[in-house]
Amino acid sequence: MRGVISRRQLLTGAAALPLVFAASRAVTGTVPLAFLLIGDWGREGEDRQRDVAEQMGRIAAQRQCKFVVTLGDNFYERGVENTQDPHWQDSFEQIYTAESLQVPWYAILGNHDYYGNPDAQIEYSKLSSRWRMPARYYQQSMMSTDGATIDMFFLDTVEIEENYVIHHESDDDDENRRERAESHNAIEQLVWLEGKLAASRAAWKLVFGHHPIMSGGEHGPTEELVMAIKPLLERYRVAAYFNGHDHDLQHIVGNGIHYIGCGAGSQTRTVSTSEGARFFSDREGFAVCTIDARRMLIDFIDYKGERLYAASIDRA
Ligand SMILES: [Fe+2]
Repeated sequence: MRGVISRRQLLTGAAALPLVFAASRAVTGTVPLAFLLIGDWGREGEDRQRDVAEQMGRIAAQRQCKFVVTLGDNFYERGVENTQDPHWQDSFEQIYTAESLQVPWYAILGNHDYYGNPDAQIEYSKLSSRWRMPARYYQQSMMSTDGATIDMFFLDTVEIEENYVIHHESDDDDENRRERAESHNAIEQLVWLEGKLAASRAAWKLVFGHHPIMSGGEHGPTEELVMAIKPLLERYRVAAYFNGHDHDLQHIVGNGIHYIGCGAGSQTRTVSTSEGARFFSDREGFAVCTIDARRMLIDFIDYKGERLYAASIDRA
């Protein structure tokens, strides 16, 4: 289904941005830290992958983007088997060729990546000048050009979605024991995340995971993440949670947390409104995030280079 958003919304979004952006530059006097976000993309250039890649290159040059974040489902349909898998060339190296995209790519895993060998994506970090996946979940810190600290937490939500068991009162001890054993890795990651979020003194805390927490897309909210991650985002005042999995572009606000859906890297599906939705589109594209001490700007750009939407998020 095309054209979920009206022409008027498109024009409003497109018209609003230059003013916001100009104001931001006037305040800081420098080019703010910018990065791109993309999810659900590796299709050997098929569908709209190549078109999206071309616009990413153009925008990354224009905004002087310092890095790219990929939100998982990096390689369809079955991930990669090893560091020599043809996908590396056909879906990554030979697609995102622009000079402006030769920057670090911070990557996380999606469910399709788990159909292959997830550790091969970690391994590839040792061979590539730009692919960065040091572990299945990890932290990376940045600083904006005006000195604001940014702590970024990259999750493996496949592990949590598959293995985090929501315990219900039960008389069956054996069943409970089995569930607890399976939950072990997921809980280890959640303990890690909570410890890091609690310790962070950064001006901005951003969390990235493949699966959605709030979404009006075809998959919709992921129950395990709503139970296990959402309370942590709220307790530790995370500014935004970024996800893929739903193949669309979305901005939703819930309890003060901004949920940015960005899984439109090559192919999209229908999306509709949901509680707290500020924007949604089934257009293939990506996001560019610009961040300084005072605010974060999120733009959605489609595969033709059209700016679909711009949001300005003040630091809480
Ligand atoms: Fe997915």
